[in-house]
Amino acid sequence: MKRVDDFRLKFGKQELVPIIIGGMGVDISTAELALEAARLGGIGHLSDAMMEDVSDRRFDTSFVKEKTKQYKYNINNSDKTDIKFDLGRLAEATKNHVGKTMEAKRGDGMIFVNCMEKLTMNNPRETLKVRLASSLDAGIDGITLSAGLHFGSFGLMADHPRFRDAKLGIIVSSVRALQIFLRKNAKLDRLPDYIIVEGPLAGGHLGFGLDWAKYDLHTIITEIALYLKTENLEIPLVAAGGIFTGSDAVSFLENGAAAVQVATRFTVTNECGLPADVKQEYFKATESNIEVNTISPTGYPMRMLTNTPAIGSGIRPGCESYGYLLDGNGGCAYITSYNREVAAHPDEKNIVVMDKTCLCTHMRNFKCWTCGHYTYRLKDTTRQLPDGSYQLLTAEHVFRDYQFSVDHQIALPA
Ligand SMILES: Cc1cc2nc3c(=O)[nH]c(=O)nc-3n(C[C@H](O)[C@H](O)[C@H](O)COP(=O)(O)O)c2cc1C
Repeated sequence: MKRVDDFRLKFGKQELVPIIIGGMGVDISTAELALEAARLGGIGHLSDAMMEDVSDRRFDTSFVKEKTKQYKYNINNSDKTDIKFDLGRLAEATKNHVGKTMEAKRGDGMIFVNCMEKLTMNNPRETLKVRLASSLDAGIDGITLSAGLHFGSFGLMADHPRFRDAKLGIIVSSVRALQIFLRKNAKLDRLPDYIIVEGPLAGGHLGFGLDWAKYDLHTIITEIALYLKTENLEIPLVAAGGIFTGSDAVSFLENGAAAVQVATRFTVTNECGLPADVKQEYFKATESNIEVNTISPTGYPMRMLTNTPAIGSGIRPGCESYGYLLDGNGGCAYITSYNREVAAHPDEKNIVVMDKTCLCTHMRNFKCWTCGHYTYRLKDTTRQLPDGSYQLLTAEHVFRDYQFSVDHQIALPA
């Protein structure tokens, strides 16, 4: 009976344990988590969502404070067009987070950045260009362009000296998205080094509609493998979404996937950025506590726990401090919903907004509990302590469990 350790992900001459820990914004997949994956010979991700805030927390910089000060005059204004990112500061924050992480890297694995292309930052093209270039400047091993493909991203990096040596990958959820990506980038003569195929059971934003349950990762990955074969393209495929045991992973590796990307099982590790009490909420979740809804202002469905504090919260939009989801015209679907509710309830102090959420503020405060479909199985991966709480795991324990387990077994912590 095979185990994940019988397989290797190959990039040229370099061989890696075929386990990738997915990017989880905002700083849920911390530097510590990514560093563990690399130390153990796999691949870890940093997320590039809200890097200025992450830099402030990690290195005591004051990017957010300075931005808030600069735009304080606008806080009660519903028009957010004025609020812009300073590209120099954005580059500095990215270099802090990525550069310091890369300096600390040990072991034979790699660290990639998950680039959230949905962060339009009131200037989509220029901010994305700076984020990509700064990560490359800071020595990141690779960049994963996450679902919601901005088809021009490879082009934005084409003049960077590391464009051909850094590993560049994309996340897709259908063969069609891949076909469009390849067509749009054909003239660059630069194929992705890997393709992550993310199915409907993943955490975070989904590349599916509310009919996500009709889709199945095995089918999508088979379609994509077939398409690559007909096109004579040899690009490693990475299966992601709902891979909960080593045996689940082996079932993909035996059918042609070069690696798996996993995340949910790492949300309850010490190295994960979620606060300890939130990790307990993930452990406690039952299947009926997990839903896919449309409250994300990005327009993509998102999976989360039903007791997520962000649901129904009507806080004032936090764009003067954050503003990561402002489209190129200073708009955000949450601002529209918030203004509608304020106008409908002018005397109400506690505004309730049900259809959208202020994702920047809530993700930053770990109040939007996005999660994978199998979060309800996390309680089976650990021991319950006498006080009723669940024992946290180490990232090494979970990584090794994926790497060595057989027969769908899950090793409990010592
Ligand atoms: C808490 C959480 C946050 C996530 N955030 C992101 C994200 O910011 N960007 C992204 O591309 N994927 C995100 N994902 C998706 C993962 O990177 C990964 O592809 C997927 O969840 C793997 O499936 P699994 O969680 O069932 O193992 C997130 C997943 C989780 C569980």
